[in-house]
Parts: sequence; C-alpha cells; structure tokens
Amino acid sequence: MKLSKFQAPKGVSEYFPPSSIQFEYVRDLLLQKAKNAGYSLIELPVFEETEVFTRGVGESTDVVSKEMYTFEDRGGRSITLRPEGTAGVMRAVIEHNLDKGQLPVKLFYSGAFFRAERPQAGRYRQFYQVGIEAIGYDDPEIDVEVIAVAENAFRELGLKQFTLNITSLGDSKSREAHRKDLVKFISNLNLDEATAQRARLNPLRLFDDKREEIKSLMSDAPLLMDYLSDESANHFNKVKSLLDSLNISYQVNPRMVRGLDYYTGTTFEFDHPLLGAQSGIGGGGRYDGLMGSLGGSDLSGIGFGLGVDRVLMACNAEKCLPTVIDPINLFIAPITQAAKSFSFKLISELRNSGIRCDMAYGDRGLKGAMKAADKSGAIFALVIGDDEITTGKCEIKEMSSGNIISSKLDVSDLISKLGNSN
Ligand code: HAM
Repeated sequence: MKLSKFQAPKGVSEYFPPSSIQFEYVRDLLLQKAKNAGYSLIELPVFEETEVFTRGVGESTDVVSKEMYTFEDRGGRSITLRPEGTAGVMRAVIEHNLDKGQLPVKLFYSGAFFRAERPQAGRYRQFYQVGIEAIGYDDPEIDVEVIAVAENAFRELGLKQFTLNITSLGDSKSREAHRKDLVKFISNLNLDEATAQRARLNPLRLFDDKREEIKSLMSDAPLLMDYLSDESANHFNKVKSLLDSLNISYQVNPRMVRGLDYYTGTTFEFDHPLLGAQSGIGGGGRYDGLMGSLGGSDLSGIGFGLGVDRVLMACNAEKCLPTVIDPINLFIAPITQAAKSFSFKLISELRNSGIRCDMAYGDRGLKGAMKAADKSGAIFALVIGDDEITTGKCEIKEMSSGNIISSKLDVSDLISKLGNSN
C-alpha cells in the first residue's frame, strides 16, 4: 500500500529555496538594524509555563482567550507555545536578574510564534517575528529609538507605502480616570454577554472590536487621549516632536488599541496598505506594569514585534527586494572522475579562504554540470577536466554575460582572483 503524502499542519508559514533567501534577507536586515542600535540577542524557549502569558498578555485578549496552543506536558504542567515574545523576555529578565545590571537592558530576538487563529493570507498559526525590548527607563527618546529602528529597517528594505499609527494609553492615573467614564458609557450599551464579559476584563477591548454594530456603538465613547495626565501628555508630546525631528511620518490614532493587555503610554502600529485584511506589519509599545505583574521589579519597558512573513509580503507587493540576493561566488563543474576529486579538494581550500563556492555532484557530463552551475545562481563558473589538472590553468566564466573573464588563470591564483571580486 502506498503511503499518502504528509502535509504541513494547516496555516503554518514555510520557507524553502529559492524564495527562502528573501525571507532570510528580510529577517537579517531587521535584526541588523536592532544590533546597530545596541540591542543584544536573547534566545528563549518557544514554550513557557502558561501563566506567563495569561498574566503577562491578559485574559481579555483574543490571544489568551482563544488563540493559545496550550497543553499538559508529561509532568502534568500547563505549557503554552509562545504566542508573542515580550512576556517570555520579561520572565527571563526577572529570572536571570538582567534588570540588576546596566540599564536599559536592550534585547532582540527572532523566531517562530504560535497563535491558533483562522488561517488566511498573512495570518498564520506559526509565524515569524523579529522583536526588540528596551527595559529600565521611560525616556521618550527610547520610545522613539524603538520606533525608529523599525522605520529605518522598513525604509532600508525599500518599502515606501507603510504607515505608522501612534497613540498614548497614558499612565495609571490617566487610565483610571478614563476607565471610570468608559465603564459608565459601556454600561448603557446593549451588549451580548460575551462582549460585556470582555469589557469587564478590559473595557478598552471594545475599541478593537471589528463588528460594525460595536464600532458604531463605540463611536461616541470617551477617548483615553482626552484623559491624559499632564505627565503622560508631556511624554507623548515629546515623542511626537522627536519623531518629527527624525522626519518619521505618523498619524495619531486615538482609537487604536493593541491586541495585548500590557500596554501603557506610547503604543504604535505599522501597517501596509497592499496587504489587505492582515495589514499590520509590526507593532509595539510601552508596558509599565508588565514586569511587576510577573513578579519582578517595577521597571518600565518598550518594544516592538515585526511580522517577518508580512514584511516579506509587503516587500513582494512593492517589488523592492533585490533580484539577486547573496549569490555564491563560484560553481565548479568537474567533467571527469579525476577532475571531481581535484575539484573536491579545491572547493575545500576556497571555502577555507572565505570564498562561497559549490560544485556539481553526480556524473552528469559537461552539459549537466553547466546546467547545475546555472541553477546555482553563482556569479562565476569554472569547468575542470583532465587538461586543467595537467596544465594547472583554468578559465573563469562570468555566468550573467557568458564571457570568459580569465583564461589561463593559474588554479593557485583562484583565491586571490575571486577574493578580490567578492
Ligand atoms: P503583535 O502586534 O501581536 O505584537 O504582533 C506583532 C506583529 O506580528 C504583527 O504586527 C504582525 O505583523 C505579526 N503577527 C501577529 N500575529 C500574526 C499571525 N497570526 N500571522 C502572521 N503574522 C502575525 C506582539 O506580539 C508584541 N509582543 C510586540 C511587542 C514587543 N510589544 C512590545 N514589545
């Protein structure tokens, strides 16, 4: 009986050659920008004790109430695949006392995240994020540094059409004053029980409701922006003027609510208009109470998560990625058995000198070997037969033009020749 073919689980994003090189390019550029701004790698487990997320992210959120992959491990502990990165980073910062050293603690991470959402274009059950977190100070300068790292990375990728929405969710004083009026406003609405329950957990959630009837009910709701304490308003004004000073365009959107409960103060979202319903390419904000709620000190922090899958989709929609990314330098096509052994040693030497190269395997003859060279995307190709071994001379062909750029080159000079053209 023939086994049926396995398929990947529903709704996961997968990357394989040749397009995986674009994924890698986008992810690495996002990471590079974080490193450039002084952030250091933190590598964490993809699963945590469930309570890290229920307490950290909040029970009123869709992420916690509907989308977590939660299971009991063999020791009977409740474990959850990480739906986002910030709560786990805070857990690690507290556990390993990173907050007791130099502040701010500036960390970056990348990897897979898991949310049991209904799959659609740009919305996956396993997706990839690059994130940063800056913990320890609440200077407006840090808010803008975080936003600028993302903005700068998007620009460097060549993206032009993205937008940035910002708002302030204020400090606890602002939120308390607003919450009182918002709860009163909501108590006069005719809501179904599930929605009312969500509102009881976090009344701000109703601003995030996608249903038209709720949107219209909420159109006159009091806005947090009108309740900002002097301190919060000053902080937000400073953020705006710092963004202006860096020529970063933004829109203030007082109705923006992020999908996670830990946010306070400055929050932001980047959207891309060519991505349809799943237009959020990244977002983040400040989270003043998160560390405390996970049992740590009361330090403030701010960060972002950028959706690598969606940023890649945006780059494809704007056609802004380079057509050739990081090609190998040289492909060697040996056409006899002796040439194969010779080439095998040669590529090892070339690789040890830092030259990216590969060779044809199998006994395919000249035509097959050149086809392999073509497919490899290499910049240069080199055919090696018995003559080349005897004379020690070879010809380097530039694959894009088909021109021979070096005839009768000493094989021993290959390293210096290709090293220069790197
Ligand atoms: P988030 O807005 O939930 O924030 O996710 C950040 C980004 O991840 C989104 O803007 C989107 O690009 C991508 N994303 C989220 N869910 C999916 C999905 N199902 N499929 C594909 N992409 C998705 C956070 O996760 C926060 N931890 C960000 C943060 C860091 N805030 C402060 N520090």
